[in-house]
Amino acid sequence: MIYLDNAATSFPKPSEVYGEMDEFFRERAANPGRAGYRLSTEAEKGIETTRKVLAGLFGAREPQRLVFTLNATDAINMAIKGLLNPGDHVITTTLEHNAVTRPLNSLERQGVITVTRVRPSPQGFVDPGDIKGSITPKTRLVALVHASNVLGTVQPIGDVGWLAREKDLLFLVDAAQSAGLWPIDVEGQCIDLLAFTGHKSLLGPPGTGGLYVGGRVELRPWREGGTGVDSQNPVQPEDMPFRLEGGTPNFVGLVGLKAGVEFVSRTGTDKIRRHGQALISQLLHTLGDDKRFTLYGPPPEAEDRSPILSLNIKGMEPQVVGTILDESFGIAVRSGLHCAPGTHKEIGSFPQGTVRISPGFFNTGDDVTQVALALKEIASSMAESSR
Ligand SMILES: Cc1ncc(COP(=O)(O)O)c(C=O)c1O
Repeated sequence: MIYLDNAATSFPKPSEVYGEMDEFFRERAANPGRAGYRLSTEAEKGIETTRKVLAGLFGAREPQRLVFTLNATDAINMAIKGLLNPGDHVITTTLEHNAVTRPLNSLERQGVITVTRVRPSPQGFVDPGDIKGSITPKTRLVALVHASNVLGTVQPIGDVGWLAREKDLLFLVDAAQSAGLWPIDVEGQCIDLLAFTGHKSLLGPPGTGGLYVGGRVELRPWREGGTGVDSQNPVQPEDMPFRLEGGTPNFVGLVGLKAGVEFVSRTGTDKIRRHGQALISQLLHTLGDDKRFTLYGPPPEAEDRSPILSLNIKGMEPQVVGTILDESFGIAVRSGLHCAPGTHKEIGSFPQGTVRISPGFFNTGDDVTQVALALKEIASSMAESSR
């Protein structure tokens, strides 16, 4: 099996991730910081190390302002629902994943907030000028995906962050596809809320993720409960991270996430990203001149693209192509809308979607050669059967 669906979740993980989780889960998996005995205190230290490692990766000066969540969806919901008040206006884009779109749509439909959705260029890039032009006196938040999960296009979050700061707006970045691949600096890029997931390019297990909450933001907790500290307090403590971290965390998963992030830091985000970009470039060059394919997103030489390529074989449903790749060639890719219908409306692939190929750090040039050959063979057999 050739796995090329790393934008959905990275697989396989570095061996350290499996190794450290297995050892911890078998030998030392006590509930962190809740009992006072050594094993529990050690588990707590493990979690705090994960928090520090992540804060270091994202340039966050105060690790305690980075709270753990189940995934990016959880983090984004925590941010949007914990922040927005009746009458607020939000600027977002049509490129967003449903993790951003749906919470905003539902608040909009309830009449709580108003939303402006900025459209990207035909290649999938957002112009900060369009965000600037959408600001109203009621605007409170700009919510922007860093890397599109359909096109791979990377948005100028630094420019948008500066703009938001200058206009005294809050800035939420959905880094589900970019954390671990692109440099992110919450201080330098003026990011107030950074939502990330652990199981994609941070190379950790599912059920891990987080939200960095900058010093300009106070969120209402949307999950209240035990924190293991300040238990006499009748309500959720004010202190971070406890304010937003009620309940037992996924402490086994967080051990794996630490190992994943350490692998990323040791290897370097630049090296990991360039490897994936080179594979996408190889694919674009191999399929680029073949008129039977529609390739979406920027050209091969584009630097600001994550290792994701959406394509279609003309005249074929992407779901059918995905099934043939799986069943006849042993190649796993994702077909459909990828939870981002707005992006497909922009690029003209709605409602059927695209075939999305997303190599990871452990894929090789040969994997890409195989998928290109398979796609050409499918396109040829389609042409023959329609004769
Ligand atoms: C851009 C983007 N945002 C958010 C998410 C949601 O991530 P998770 O499913 O880990 O919550 C995804 C997942 O595919 C994504 O690609």
